[in-house]
Amino acid sequence: MKEKVVRKAILPAGGLGTRFLPATKASPKEMLPIVDKPMIQYAVEEAQACGIEEFIVITGKHKRAIEDHFDAAFKLEESLKKSGKKKLLEEINRLSHLNFAYIRQREALGLGHAISRARPFIKDEPVAVLLSDDIIDPDDTLLKDMIHLYEECKAPVLAIEKVPMSDISRYGVIAGTLEKENVYRIHDLVEKPSPESAPSDMAIIGRYILTPDIFEILENLAPGKGGEIQLTDALAGLLKRRTLYGYLFTGKRYDAGDKVGYLKATVDLALKNPEVSGPLKEYIIAVAERLKH
Ligand code: G1P
Repeated sequence: MKEKVVRKAILPAGGLGTRFLPATKASPKEMLPIVDKPMIQYAVEEAQACGIEEFIVITGKHKRAIEDHFDAAFKLEESLKKSGKKKLLEEINRLSHLNFAYIRQREALGLGHAISRARPFIKDEPVAVLLSDDIIDPDDTLLKDMIHLYEECKAPVLAIEKVPMSDISRYGVIAGTLEKENVYRIHDLVEKPSPESAPSDMAIIGRYILTPDIFEILENLAPGKGGEIQLTDALAGLLKRRTLYGYLFTGKRYDAGDKVGYLKATVDLALKNPEVSGPLKEYIIAVAERLKH
């Protein structure tokens, strides 16, 4: 069989973003800025660092701003050129070599349904899936490590993280046996179980390397938790046919789909940004002092 490399990524972006209303009433949650970049751009840059150049974004209503963001902006470019703002011009063109395709999910029928929409663009290749709500520390190599594992075992790989049992019902959860450092062979998957019924404390986080056989399962899947077509259920179906691996992530992740997680991501990523880190650090120290009293 011809060696298949991971060249494409699916970015589901069809959600309503209700947790960020009213900010998300007319603009997409994926465009909320963290420091100076929209959330979705962190996911794009993470994939690009792994050599991925084709992106399939699954959108819905009120998501046009995402398409504009990754498109050329001639008037803006002209004006930056005229005013000599070379650095900004470079920054807005830094991702211009990437290709984006957009598919509208006509109804919000769940993550599995969103991913199934990408089938015509993927055909028989493996594909990375990145949920842009989950922001991975940009200095981390999670996706690269997952791609290496995929290349080694030619099997789907899910990123997993140990989470407190009090949070377990917010995630898809796996049970698995440790095969080698950080790599689990999965033997069960459940979407958003109760703490009592969860098969372990290992939650699926928003990074997946999928193989194209997932699409056939997704297309024939009945709605699961919350009446939605669940990716976790499709993976449970796939597990009957082939081996799946969980890659344990021990680095820093922010659940930026949650207000507090979003604020934590903003603070930490701003502290990594040389343009703002100095004065921000001083301010944080002053706030910490104030809170002591
Ligand atoms: C989705 C998946 C869930 C996974 C989570 C990771 O849930 O359905 O299995 O654990 O992403 O962020 P959502 O956060 O969309 O409810």
